[in-house]
Amino acid sequence: MFQALSRRILLAGAACFWMTCFCLSAQQPVPPTDAEVHRFASDLLAKMTVAEKLGQMEQAAGQYFTKEQADTLTRQGQVGSFLFLTDPVRINELQRIAVTESPHHIPLLFGYDVIHGFRTINPIPLALASSWDPSLEQHVQSMAAREARAAGVNWAFSPMVDIARDARWGRIMEGAGEDPFLGEQMAVAQVRGFQGDYVGAPDHVLACVKHLAGYGAVPAGRDYESVEISEQDLNNVYLRPYKAAVHAGAATVMSAYMDLNGVPATGNRWLLHDVLRSEWGFRGFVVSDWDAVKSLTVHGLASDPSDAAARAFHAGVNMEMTSSLYREQLGPLVADGRISGAELDEAVRPILEMKYRLGLFSDPYVSLEKFKAETLSKAQRDSARQAAEQSAVLLRNENSLLPLSRSMKTLAVIGPLADSGIDTLGSWSLHANPADTVTIAQGLREKLPNTRVLVTTGVEIHREQPSIFDEQAPEPKRTLLTENAQTAEFNHAIDLINQSDAAVLVLGEQQNMNGERASRATLDLPGRQEQLLEAAVATGKPVVLLLMTGRPLNISWAAAHVPAILNIWYPGTEGGHAVANLLFGDAVPGGKLTVSWPRSVGQEPMFYNANLTQIPEETSGRYWDEDATPLYPFGYGLSYTAFTLSDLLLNNKILEKDGTLLASVRVENTGEVAGDEAVQLYTHQRAGSASRPVRELKAFEKVHLAAHESRVVTLHLAASDLSYWSASSRVTVLEAGVFDLWVGDSSKATLHVNFDLAK
Ligand code: NOJ
Repeated sequence: MFQALSRRILLAGAACFWMTCFCLSAQQPVPPTDAEVHRFASDLLAKMTVAEKLGQMEQAAGQYFTKEQADTLTRQGQVGSFLFLTDPVRINELQRIAVTESPHHIPLLFGYDVIHGFRTINPIPLALASSWDPSLEQHVQSMAAREARAAGVNWAFSPMVDIARDARWGRIMEGAGEDPFLGEQMAVAQVRGFQGDYVGAPDHVLACVKHLAGYGAVPAGRDYESVEISEQDLNNVYLRPYKAAVHAGAATVMSAYMDLNGVPATGNRWLLHDVLRSEWGFRGFVVSDWDAVKSLTVHGLASDPSDAAARAFHAGVNMEMTSSLYREQLGPLVADGRISGAELDEAVRPILEMKYRLGLFSDPYVSLEKFKAETLSKAQRDSARQAAEQSAVLLRNENSLLPLSRSMKTLAVIGPLADSGIDTLGSWSLHANPADTVTIAQGLREKLPNTRVLVTTGVEIHREQPSIFDEQAPEPKRTLLTENAQTAEFNHAIDLINQSDAAVLVLGEQQNMNGERASRATLDLPGRQEQLLEAAVATGKPVVLLLMTGRPLNISWAAAHVPAILNIWYPGTEGGHAVANLLFGDAVPGGKLTVSWPRSVGQEPMFYNANLTQIPEETSGRYWDEDATPLYPFGYGLSYTAFTLSDLLLNNKILEKDGTLLASVRVENTGEVAGDEAVQLYTHQRAGSASRPVRELKAFEKVHLAAHESRVVTLHLAASDLSYWSASSRVTVLEAGVFDLWVGDSSKATLHVNFDLAK
């Protein structure tokens, strides 16, 4: 009955295909029941051939096919999804072919890396996490989903929930940082942002949690390297955000490239089946990372392409990204019974179910009018600007240099990133147009119409090896090839600073120095930026350092000599407006680091929640040539105002095993402007069956307080939050005993109480 109806709608949709460009998309206004979805998929599966089923398991890279080839693949039902197609006219056209000309009229999924925005770019994920505000994260990703969906993209390859403890890894920028609890909150918020209240909610897309699992633990940050993670770290750290995202209803999961404890993740049945499906109850589908099925032969897990396809299939990969081994190799395995019909159906089922839940069977098209209205809309830009304001982290502000005075006659804005649209966006902004970006220089010019704003690069920076993304986001041309030209430009920059009342230096990394295949062996400011900074400070003018980066950099000299340092990350399309607001006090920084900021690269990997050791004092005995503490700890960030935390009280000194403890603390804004504080609660288990971390984040709340306002904030700690996987018991335990509890404004929180977890 439903099918007949949906076919009628579908045919009507096909008949008025060009008109549909003006219709509103009919995404599911009410979620269908699980039974209805199941029945729909079963009916469809009963009619499909093996070849069609294998087609559904293929995701093709749009850019590698001519129009004719893509049309043919679609018409013949040999593809279930495309990635990297973003033109709504083309997407509508392919959907039309799929639902009117392919054997069983199955619509397509269009996947894209909507990592921190689609056309309107938001701050990078590491920056968004620095807001310590899951509701902001959710909102930002819902805006990204909205813009993408309006173009016909119905599946975001995001969020990346890999815990990263090493700033050398280029992809640290794509995640929420080093902490599993914060990672869980941000993972859940992002899944909700992308998907809405249910899969198929209007203006939302499927989320894809990636890269299962452990990619963030590559040794020394070297991208793609084999990963070894102990069982305790897997359970207590790396898997936690995945599990939370799956329990929040994530529709899809991406398998990682690398080996995890000796088995490539894409061929790892324990990971993709036993953990993901059996233990966590995942009911969506798994897509491999790009070519990762084919790579099983490179890894040496598979002897040939057929073996690779079989291993990925049996491991639990439902859809193969880009390599076409499923379509080419699995047919004979089904024919000779090595893959049963039931196994094949169970692999295809969730793909069909997600398409059904998305409403694509009743209307796969998008409205071009809506697309135009949504793309780079005022609402999108406003939201991106606010997100950038809330993500910036103020690292230093001696003598309250910031906010700057507006009465300056001349301001120098210096640095290779000061006026660069593409770099302000950050990596994974593949669909953005750099020309839409408000650069820092542009934002400051707009903010200060009566001030001379003098802008120059001072130095140039370049990636020595090309980036895999340079084709999509070309490197700006080198202009200062000779030593003399470089020296002249450097001197010119210092001249401009000498003519100015103050200097804003915008330094850091180009966007292509972060992201995939963008790991580093050092964390120094690339090129001659450090010399430029030192020369700028030597002028005696007030200097503000704006760091544009996707990772902590070595700024130890700056931390001692530059009066104001504001980490703006890659702030996105509206970066210039946001930064101008922040510099002049129209916005107040409230971000906090979600990664420990090292003093030097040799300290990496660095994270606050390490286990207690033989000599727990942090500052001595670890290195003879470097302090063992971070330059800035996890959770740290300043404001233009100041907060005092006091009166830490527990509602009980004893926490029952099924109970919840309430920790209340008075937070007072003691300054003259309103501001945000992230109140953080950490615990430590004094003794247990296995070593316990020195501190672990267990709760936090972002509060906004007017000048001189004071409020009692109550944080909740459920006893179950104290459970952990014990390396000696080899199961998850909740152990009675004494716990320390701290509340404060960073992982160095000092307000302390202790409580007992009852037997
Ligand atoms: C490879 C990356 O590892 C993954 O994160 C991304 O989603 C895919 N390529 C598609 O671009």
